[in-house]
Amino acid sequence: MQDLPTAVLQELDRANELDSLKLAEKLQVDEQKIVGAIKSLEALGDVIETKIYQVKNWKLTAEGEEVASAGSHEARVFNQVPADGIPQPELIKKCGPWGKVGFSKAMSAGWIKIDKSQGAPVVQRLIESITDTVMDHIKGDDSSIDDKVKAEYKKRKLAEEVLTKHYTLQKGANFTTKIEKAPTELTADMIATGSWKTTSLKPYNLDALGVETGAGCLHPLLKVRAEYRQIFLEMGFSEMTTNKFVESSFWNFDALFQPQQHPARDAHDTFFISDPATSTNFPSDYLERVKKVHSEGGFGSQGYGYDWKIDEASKNLLRTHTTAVSARMLYEVAQKDTFEPVKMFSIDRVFRNETLDATHLAEFHQIEGVVADYNLTLGHCIGVINTFFTKLGIEKLRFKPAYNPYTEPSMEIFSYHEGLQKWVEIGNSGMFRPEMLLPMGLPEGVNCIGFGLSLERPTMIKYKIDNIRDLVGHKVNLDMVKRNPLCRIVKA
Ligand code: PHE
Repeated sequence: MQDLPTAVLQELDRANELDSLKLAEKLQVDEQKIVGAIKSLEALGDVIETKIYQVKNWKLTAEGEEVASAGSHEARVFNQVPADGIPQPELIKKCGPWGKVGFSKAMSAGWIKIDKSQGAPVVQRLIESITDTVMDHIKGDDSSIDDKVKAEYKKRKLAEEVLTKHYTLQKGANFTTKIEKAPTELTADMIATGSWKTTSLKPYNLDALGVETGAGCLHPLLKVRAEYRQIFLEMGFSEMTTNKFVESSFWNFDALFQPQQHPARDAHDTFFISDPATSTNFPSDYLERVKKVHSEGGFGSQGYGYDWKIDEASKNLLRTHTTAVSARMLYEVAQKDTFEPVKMFSIDRVFRNETLDATHLAEFHQIEGVVADYNLTLGHCIGVINTFFTKLGIEKLRFKPAYNPYTEPSMEIFSYHEGLQKWVEIGNSGMFRPEMLLPMGLPEGVNCIGFGLSLERPTMIKYKIDNIRDLVGHKVNLDMVKRNPLCRIVKA
């Protein structure tokens, strides 16, 4: 078969006027293909003239389709009513989701009645048989149905109106049935034979968009992460190694003086790993000190006084916070011959078995900073956090006493949100407990500041995303990732 644009031209040559809808029927092709052919003919200049017209059509909804095959709701209700009647609640229950509508329609059609003479309402037939006009209408040709009735079906969500576009076409000033494609390229042959002098080449379309280059691009979370990393680096922090998504309970909880019965260790909050289920090779003397401080105390603490078990500590999990990383790093710092003050940060992924909603996923990123030195106080802690947030352009901060098993004192960090006109929680912080630091081997008198916040929250605020699923996960629009702007934080 010849190509479709040529076929359209030949039809037009015979008919003088054509209609895309009828032409599609005649040529037995999809109307959209005809429209495509018409568009390409339009691009040739004045070969054809076109006009668009719109047609209103009725289309059945899913519910309408059901009515077309199974009958209207009222007819189905009527059919459920036996000759000697049926209690009303039983009828409604039998009819399922369409019972209520069907019932009231069947009542107003005068098909059924409620009989209360026996006490409880019983539904009875008023007539022997019915004609299901609604079904007949829905199934049949809509041209004969009154507009009012159609509007009623629309209201009942059985049918909806759809507008479709069609074309009429006529011959244009340069009508031809032979499409000549102007050559797009100058060839060596044309030059050799001199035919280029008489050939009309297809003009350049300087308005055509170029082919998009498939370059890589950064996800907004990574852009915001780069900004936070920059701030830490400006403040003299070095980055911790965060490559362990799978961690042992020991480093995630025990090293942090988090008791083994703590609710956070429950499978409701933590994802445990089944293969490999456990870790081994903990530094043995350190492990003994951790065991002791939990069960008996020491280092100036009375401990928790429970039977600490290595089985619990060896369980593998997906780390629930990056403080597990900080614990490993602080332990390493403590193993050096002489203690040197450190400022360290990390920004990486953590996992919690949360109920998912618009702002929570089972995995997210934490930003965490730790500073260890002799004689650090809560004042230093507040100072470091203040400097950090000031560099982010957040100046109004408040600290609220809180509880963490591994810090004392602990403080939640709040900032004043100008948009929301209220104080919102933006992070958590505190001074790591001696029960955590001393068993590691850090010298007496060394204190450690810690603070953490999520990366998702500031990113969502920065990029004005209000559902986390639009930022992370399989529903993310890749175009959003491609087109979102650079992240610039107005820094102080
Ligand atoms: N780990 C804490 C959290 O998950 C944050 C934190 C880090 C708190 C360091 C105090 C010290 O929220």
